[in-house]
Amino acid sequence: MHKSANDKSFISITVSGTIIYMKNIMKKIFMTTLILALILTGCSSTPQSTEAPAEDTTAPEVITPRPDDGRTVVGISMPDRLLERWNRDGEFLKDQFESIGCEVILEYANNLIDTQTDNLKMMIASGADLLVVTAVDGSALSTVLEDAHRNGVKIIAYDRLIMGTNAVDYYVSFDNYKVGVLQADYIIADLGLKTSKDPKNIEFVTGDPVDNNARFFYRGAMDTLKPYLDSGQLQVPSSQSGFYETSTAQWSTDIAQQRLQIILNSYYPEGTRLDAVLCANDSTAVGVTRALEADYTGRNTVVVTGQDADISNIYNILEGTQSMTVYKHLKQESVVTVTLGQDILEGNEPAEDLIDRAGWDFDCSYNVTDYNNGNKVVPSYLLRPIAISAVNIEKELFKTGYYGRNSAGLIYATK
Ligand code: BGC
Repeated sequence: MHKSANDKSFISITVSGTIIYMKNIMKKIFMTTLILALILTGCSSTPQSTEAPAEDTTAPEVITPRPDDGRTVVGISMPDRLLERWNRDGEFLKDQFESIGCEVILEYANNLIDTQTDNLKMMIASGADLLVVTAVDGSALSTVLEDAHRNGVKIIAYDRLIMGTNAVDYYVSFDNYKVGVLQADYIIADLGLKTSKDPKNIEFVTGDPVDNNARFFYRGAMDTLKPYLDSGQLQVPSSQSGFYETSTAQWSTDIAQQRLQIILNSYYPEGTRLDAVLCANDSTAVGVTRALEADYTGRNTVVVTGQDADISNIYNILEGTQSMTVYKHLKQESVVTVTLGQDILEGNEPAEDLIDRAGWDFDCSYNVTDYNNGNKVVPSYLLRPIAISAVNIEKELFKTGYYGRNSAGLIYATK
């Protein structure tokens, strides 16, 4: 990796014609060691400072280690192990960063803000050059990240935006608004809202309010359903349709289940039909299908949406207890992140050009308008989510090799 000549946190020193770059804080230690070494070896070379490095035009395949400590360290901070997806994201990111020569520290925060803060502190103390962070609480990381950022550590918000700070360089995610649109579109089509005028009943189970994504999913869905809610064609018997009142702390399956059971027992007496539950993701969808199994007395199949294409939810879709999910190709998200990370570590300032340079065979757009974290609009690379139902599950998930089936017919995730 090559540090750019104008990177203020680095100095360059020439020893016997070799330019060495290092962080300012390393300078004193280095100088003392160097002088001792020169005395011991009798060498008469004198260090000269602040010589501009020669421009390097070749793009190395493998990142060369940081000159200050001989390593390129990437810290990956994931929110929890409860969801299938973060386990897979973590492994994909780790493998790919390691394959380009980085040392990786991967930690899971157990959905706890303090644990995530401690994880990040440990990564920074271990010499992290780059942090890839999926925040448990998007607004709780400013202090720890700002210290690191000031010291030259680069920060990529992975999947969830980090809020209220300048200490985030880039954001990699999916088009989160579109996720909500896809869920709502499925409900509109399945309930035939465009053609039939019969009123239908719907309930909402949305995401964790401390996750910025949850608002995007909610807005995408609500904007799309609004005409039907306004006209009364969609009714909400519980009257709970606001973001906070429908939210699910920590995206918890149990909390989603309990909330829907209360709604069913309170607003759906014997015979009252529920047509659809808009669930923001697969963990909440599991809670909702359990609640329906336990306490729904209607005979119809209730439309249940989701997101993530987790394996347990794929089984539910195949069995008909969940209607759809929104599939987000996690490997593509990690490929974008690693390519971006490598580019930043090489001292570049990637923008839209990264997409052309990378030549990915999947859709990715560069967005500099939609992801304002309260302090700045964070430049974002956004991938395209895909709606999955029983109709296209084989084509999108199995034929593409994202999932496989073993000889007993059990579904497994391919590497
Ligand atoms: C992610 C979803 C995930 C949810 C719960 C969101 O930020 O975008 O894919 O289901 O968090 O972990």
